[in-house]
Amino acid sequence: MKRLHFHILATLIVMVLSYQVNAQTDYSYKNKSLPIETRVQDLLGRMTLEEKAGQLNQLNGGVLTGPQAANDPGQQGKLKLLRDGKIGSFLNVVGAAETKAVQKIAIEESRLGIPLLFAYDVIHGFKTVFPIPLAEACSWEPAMAEKASGIAANEAAAAGLHWTFAPMMDLTRDPRWGRVMEGSGEDPLINSVFAAARVRGFQGNFDNHHVMACVKHFAAYGQPEGGKEYNTVDMSRYSFWNTYSPSYHAAVDAGAATVMNSFNVFDGIPATANKFLNTDVLRNRWGFKGFLVSDWASYGELITHGVAADAAEAALKGILAGSQMDMESSAVVNNLPQLIKDGKVPQSLLDDAVSKILYWKFKLGLFDDPYKYSDEKREAATMLTPASLETARDAARKSMVLLKNDKNTLPLSKNTKNVLVAGFFADSQEDALDFWCGKGEAKDVVTYRNGIANKLPKATINYAQGYEASGKTNGKLLVDLKKKARGADVIVAVIGITGKHAGEARSLADITPPEGQMEMLRALKASGKPFVVVVHAARPMVLTEVEKLAPAILNAWIGGTAMGNGAADVLFGDYNPSAKTVISFPVSVGQIPVYYNAYSTGRPHEDGHDGPNDFWVSRYRDIPNSPLYPFGYGMSYTSFEYGDLKLSAAEMTASQTVTATVSVKNTGSREGEEIVQLYLRDLVGTYSRPVKELKGFEKINLKPSESKTVTFTIDSKMLSYFDFDGNTLLEPGKFQVFVGGNSRDVKTADLRLK
Ligand code: GLC
Repeated sequence: MKRLHFHILATLIVMVLSYQVNAQTDYSYKNKSLPIETRVQDLLGRMTLEEKAGQLNQLNGGVLTGPQAANDPGQQGKLKLLRDGKIGSFLNVVGAAETKAVQKIAIEESRLGIPLLFAYDVIHGFKTVFPIPLAEACSWEPAMAEKASGIAANEAAAAGLHWTFAPMMDLTRDPRWGRVMEGSGEDPLINSVFAAARVRGFQGNFDNHHVMACVKHFAAYGQPEGGKEYNTVDMSRYSFWNTYSPSYHAAVDAGAATVMNSFNVFDGIPATANKFLNTDVLRNRWGFKGFLVSDWASYGELITHGVAADAAEAALKGILAGSQMDMESSAVVNNLPQLIKDGKVPQSLLDDAVSKILYWKFKLGLFDDPYKYSDEKREAATMLTPASLETARDAARKSMVLLKNDKNTLPLSKNTKNVLVAGFFADSQEDALDFWCGKGEAKDVVTYRNGIANKLPKATINYAQGYEASGKTNGKLLVDLKKKARGADVIVAVIGITGKHAGEARSLADITPPEGQMEMLRALKASGKPFVVVVHAARPMVLTEVEKLAPAILNAWIGGTAMGNGAADVLFGDYNPSAKTVISFPVSVGQIPVYYNAYSTGRPHEDGHDGPNDFWVSRYRDIPNSPLYPFGYGMSYTSFEYGDLKLSAAEMTASQTVTATVSVKNTGSREGEEIVQLYLRDLVGTYSRPVKELKGFEKINLKPSESKTVTFTIDSKMLSYFDFDGNTLLEPGKFQVFVGGNSRDVKTADLRLK
């Protein structure tokens, strides 16, 4: 009898305990007081294999609610997948109302009610469009980029978004590539500091005024052969480690939540199936803790790349290489459960991926308040505020590079009575913005013509189109231009490339201004009137012929919603331009790639040295080696004089530092900002080293006649580099130190590492 009592008692105790545990675990992933990890593990334990694979499935959503979607079988199919727990995230579902409605379906109509992540390409602004990232980097003010990214994040988060596919930090040296606009030019340090700044700006502290960032595109997408979009990338590991990897590493170190695969092969294996990139480098070397998302259908494109026979093999290779979320190809959701059941993929890989995705959904608070980003009142109050537009205007004027200014043609006087604004791009809102302008609208853009009219409300502002939208010459337009030029005091002529050719799938084989634009400039030259050229383009154009005609050239890039006001601030002297280009301007398309941080080669050639011994050297016979405008170059309305470069010591050991100081004086008549740049050269290494590498910079403000001493601290990190395997090398020997206002005109000193 006693034994029976004992058993009954023991059973009762177990039942009570298990009820308590169940009571607690029944809802523990919903229990806010528990740590995220506990909640993740509990939820994971409740999910089926299909539901887990569903979390790795991201589809392009578009409009999923409302009458049109109700009658669209495709859209209804997506909602069925959602109800079946087979979608973890949508991209391109935007707006407080729409995201709320779709989230509601996820929460209320799927078995576990796991919230969705809503993602969108917020590259350089959401509704308030900032200058393209390439332009913004020319400010050499990472703080400006961080602030702009913060504003973009706030607007995006107010529109129901949790996650941006930005920043893009694919270093590139090829202006033919349409996506050169999205990165920060040809230098590893500039790309690194701006990538980190934008990650910080986008993510903040992950409140619902910020969004998750995404390091993209991993890796080396910016070096397609010929600058042709989606083309083969083929480089040495030595180049990868030293030139292309630093910016991704900086973004990971800045705490980016996610990383996106690139479309290209690397070492002959597409990034989505590339274990070296996704596991060896990203996870094992850099300790990346977030999750990966593929690029658009890049899992499926493993088939067209020829590394997978079908979608199942694509899913297999991608997951085994360390890729995770699958954007738009559905290879993972359709095949991974079976691959696991067949023992071809360890379940641990899936559980790890799902855990990371769930971690971020908990971290953003979506399990506790799934609609915290979907507040329509907040959305309406957040977009295009005067403060945001003012920041966009400031960013625009700080990004525009003054390339030429003969006889101080610029700045123009604000007392000018009659200004002729010429050029189709001077007045086209439709051609103003680029493909990655988010939800920015053409109707909100201040054109160059508007900006000048805003600046000179009392002046007569005439307009002449000058050339056809296509860039072709038009006789009637030229006649009109010449007539109006006769009555003008000054002409502002805008040339360039439409924003419709800026961004993905927009590589151009020719980036020289079309004939109609050149005809306009020749006509203006012939008019004898003072004129300035504004270049509107999302890449450095070939300006060699423009340079021969124009007294002054302002490279305005694509300056975003406030571009016209920003340009007018510079043109009429309310802002003294300080920008310096972060990418070289080639003298011709044939010169591409041309970049400052190149290796010497065994037969270097310096322009101007054309003696008999200069024949068998590395050069073209028909153009110079130097670009038209070099990396780091940009003019001001004042002038700066550099004193001698002084080093605190001529040599140092690995554990010491040396300071490099230089005095800079404003020798002109206007206050202005100068970006003082520090470069180094390792004269002898195991590997050939670049003839210059940017290692530091400081933007200073100087009043007329004011001098400042700028100090850089040189440490062994600056002197080190990576070998083929990514190991750090620090090799004693001679270095050269350079300081100047660009990568060409520099003061030099010698330094020895003992
Ligand atoms: C595109 C781009 C990528 C973008 C994604 C979603 O193909 O390569 O940068 O984030 O698809 O739009």
